[in-house]
Amino acid sequence: MTARIYIDTQRIIGEISPLLFGGFAEHMGRCIYGGLYDPGSPHADGRGYRQDVLQALRELRLSVIRYPGGNFLSGYHWRDGVGPREERPRHRDLAWQSIETNQFGTNEFIEVCRLLNALPMLGVNLGTGTIEEAAALVEYCNAPVGSHYADLRAAHGYPTPHAVPYWCLGNEMDGPWQIGHLDALDYGKKAREAAKVMRLQDPAIQLILCGSSSTSMRTYPEWDRLVLETCYDQVDYLALHYYATNHDNDLGSYLAMAAQFEEQVDTLAATLRYVKAVLRSRRTLYLSWDEWNVWYKDRSGRGGWQEGPPLSEEVYNLEDALVVGQWLNVFLRKCDVLKIACIAQIVNTIAPLHATQDGLLRHTTYYPFLLASAYGRGLSLDVLTQAPLYDTRLFGPMPLLDVAASHDPATGAGAVFIVNRSVGEPLVTEVVWQGAAPTRVLARHELTGDDPKAFNGLAEPNRVVPRTLPGQPIQDGRLTLSLPPLSFTVLATT
Ligand code: AHR
Repeated sequence: MTARIYIDTQRIIGEISPLLFGGFAEHMGRCIYGGLYDPGSPHADGRGYRQDVLQALRELRLSVIRYPGGNFLSGYHWRDGVGPREERPRHRDLAWQSIETNQFGTNEFIEVCRLLNALPMLGVNLGTGTIEEAAALVEYCNAPVGSHYADLRAAHGYPTPHAVPYWCLGNEMDGPWQIGHLDALDYGKKAREAAKVMRLQDPAIQLILCGSSSTSMRTYPEWDRLVLETCYDQVDYLALHYYATNHDNDLGSYLAMAAQFEEQVDTLAATLRYVKAVLRSRRTLYLSWDEWNVWYKDRSGRGGWQEGPPLSEEVYNLEDALVVGQWLNVFLRKCDVLKIACIAQIVNTIAPLHATQDGLLRHTTYYPFLLASAYGRGLSLDVLTQAPLYDTRLFGPMPLLDVAASHDPATGAGAVFIVNRSVGEPLVTEVVWQGAAPTRVLARHELTGDDPKAFNGLAEPNRVVPRTLPGQPIQDGRLTLSLPPLSFTVLATT
């Protein structure tokens, strides 16, 4: 059994948006309190930000961070989270049944973004919130001093505008669980009016419309068509969300989840094109996958009215990491239409990082993100993969390999990202380059293991980590590899 991967540096899908390597931070569980912000921790700096968490996120090179929710957003009033800390109210957060102390708010979030060199993406509350409140937040964040909310920001210690470029028009408004849930027509009208007043405050902002919260929604993808038809000319992106699961412990199907992810992008890309044609619009909208991850083992969401309770602290294993690796491959393969993606979330809650009082654990899923973010830069190439097929219950016959490739013509640097779904045997694979073929593998990174359920725990924090193999020459644009079963391999080339 062998496989072959053909890579032609002239067969270009598009430029890889750096915003595909983004994250999502919500006031949920211990993501903010006990994660990003933990003033009582010996790992915190003078402002209360966890240094170890920030350093690990820096290594991921997060380009954009979405905040403050999530379901939390739809009951959140941003005024509660700014100004002197001692004056900020304690509230019941109805979404996660927790106590929100508001000790971390918009300005602290902006500080974290600056520390990470990431762009901020703020959500406005379109559940219990008004369009006036949304416009006021844009003024608070982006207007120069000289008007009420901009002056308030200055009085809070931030005279220079935050210049927030990306704004989400609510969160998952299609979901009956959402506080202030609306049907598609009502949401479309509210989002359109919010977009209008927000843009009157700052015409430069980029707006993201709520798409369906999952492909499992009965209203998918009709919701997307309807809200786009109402808002197409007022917005820039359509949001999509999805959390992968393996409830049935069906390894074969789970390892083929790229098929599901690609279909979701294709369906919504087609919906964007359809609405553009119906409206005779000259504008092109893009997709923002601003919540994605594996989430099914710990779905706890009721905080018992505690401050920063541990919720949904999913522990990730090797098979989850291989699903995350495929997700990142799909982002590269769909980079012509998909411009933003945010892993949900970034620490403690459904996250690649787990912070304790003592230190920080990197889950398995941290590593494919680390590698893809480091090497998935430049142009994405349209790879041809010939691999043996295997049968899956959910997706029918699927190739054993899932592959993406990047190439930077300016530097000659390139990378190949390969998930090997085979369970038993290594797969001998020949990589064949055409066009500007590289001459050398600089490094080969490999994340693998015998047991798909292996995970990193406090007792064994480095059980599933990538190993780096030495580089090697590439002869005449050809290289033969033996890919271990259950593996994610990244070849960095020059
Ligand atoms: O990320 C956790 C939750 O999942 C978010 O609050 C919500 O948007 C989604 O349903």
